[in-house]
Amino acid sequence: MRTTLRWGMVGLGRIAHTFARDLARFQNASLVAVGSRSRENARAFAAEHGARWAYDSYEAVYTHPDVDIVYVATPHHQHAELSRAALRAGKHVLCEKPAAINAAQMTSIISAANEADRFFMEALWSRFNPVLAEVIQRTRDGQIGPVRFIEADFSFRLDASEGSRTHDPAQGGGALLDIGIYPIFLAYTLLGVPETVQASMIRHPSGVDEQVAVIMAYEKALATAYAGFASPSGLEATISGEEGRFVVHPLWHEAESYTYFRNGEWEGERLTRPKTGHGLWHEIAACQTAIGRGETECALWTHQDALNLITILDRVRDAIGLVYPSDIGGST
Ligand SMILES: NC(=O)c1ccc[n+]([C@@H]2O[C@H](COP(=O)([O-])OP(=O)(O)OC[C@H]3O[C@@H](n4cnc5c(N)ncnc54)[C@H](OP(=O)(O)O)[C@@H]3O)[C@@H](O)[C@H]2O)c1
Repeated sequence: MRTTLRWGMVGLGRIAHTFARDLARFQNASLVAVGSRSRENARAFAAEHGARWAYDSYEAVYTHPDVDIVYVATPHHQHAELSRAALRAGKHVLCEKPAAINAAQMTSIISAANEADRFFMEALWSRFNPVLAEVIQRTRDGQIGPVRFIEADFSFRLDASEGSRTHDPAQGGGALLDIGIYPIFLAYTLLGVPETVQASMIRHPSGVDEQVAVIMAYEKALATAYAGFASPSGLEATISGEEGRFVVHPLWHEAESYTYFRNGEWEGERLTRPKTGHGLWHEIAACQTAIGRGETECALWTHQDALNLITILDRVRDAIGLVYPSDIGGST
């Protein structure tokens, strides 16, 4: 078996640059091919990050014989189609979050991965963040007792610029799918699929959710999630159990520290867990390890986890009446 995993990347925007910098930290990974809508962008990206091949086509990357795994970093609405195409071309796939804009799309990607017998993961990088991995493990180990309440927010001021993916319904825009996915991921990972989901939104003139607030109810717990592009929030997460709580410090979804409070104590124990690189390093390491072992998914963020999460996001969209053009007709 090869000792170096050869990566291709499609959609060379903001996160692709960050990802390429973290990928460069691996000795057993190399960036071999990149694809863009524009030849100039592909060439500039390849020169900056040391990729051998640069194409003005995504297909040229996911059909390239030297590519083992494709990282999909386009806007959301293209994720499912590109992931399926890469899997059918025999490549492993790591696809940016959300890997699909609805559950039907996610199901179709998972089917393609199973049929191709290739690795697929949604790039839910927070699941691999050292602070969150530790807090999730300690919570599951019962160190704060039964969880009764989770609250997390993710909001900042972001104006709509012409054609920007974040405010464009055709590109799966809106706060929920872009950043609301993080607080809902936290509730799902610790409490599972909620029994009921209630939500409200403030709609942006473009049609997407500019602000969204969600209440997820479980048999013996409640979780609240807030996301928005209207104003900054604290970007902190609290996991509250019957015997204590964890407070994950800002920016909680990529945290480097948290505080553990026992009941009755207002001075907590502060713990620091540095991340490597920008923090995408940890999900890359998980992919490298799983593929090296011949596995087709990661234990920390499985196909079922990705499907369950997008199903909750679908329920939120049902509650707020947010429909995308690609939900209708050709949803997969
Ligand atoms: N994990 C994270 O921390 C994180 C952070 C930010 C974003 N993301 C996710 O990564 C994805 C990309 O986000 P981003 O912030 O990198 O976006 P971005 O800067 O806008 O880049 C997206 C790239 O996709 C390509 N693209 C293809 N069709 C496009 C279209 N119709 N409009 C615009 N771009 C198009 C473009 O690359 P070419 O011109 O080279 O083809 C563009 O540069 C999103 O799904 C987002 O949720 C994840």
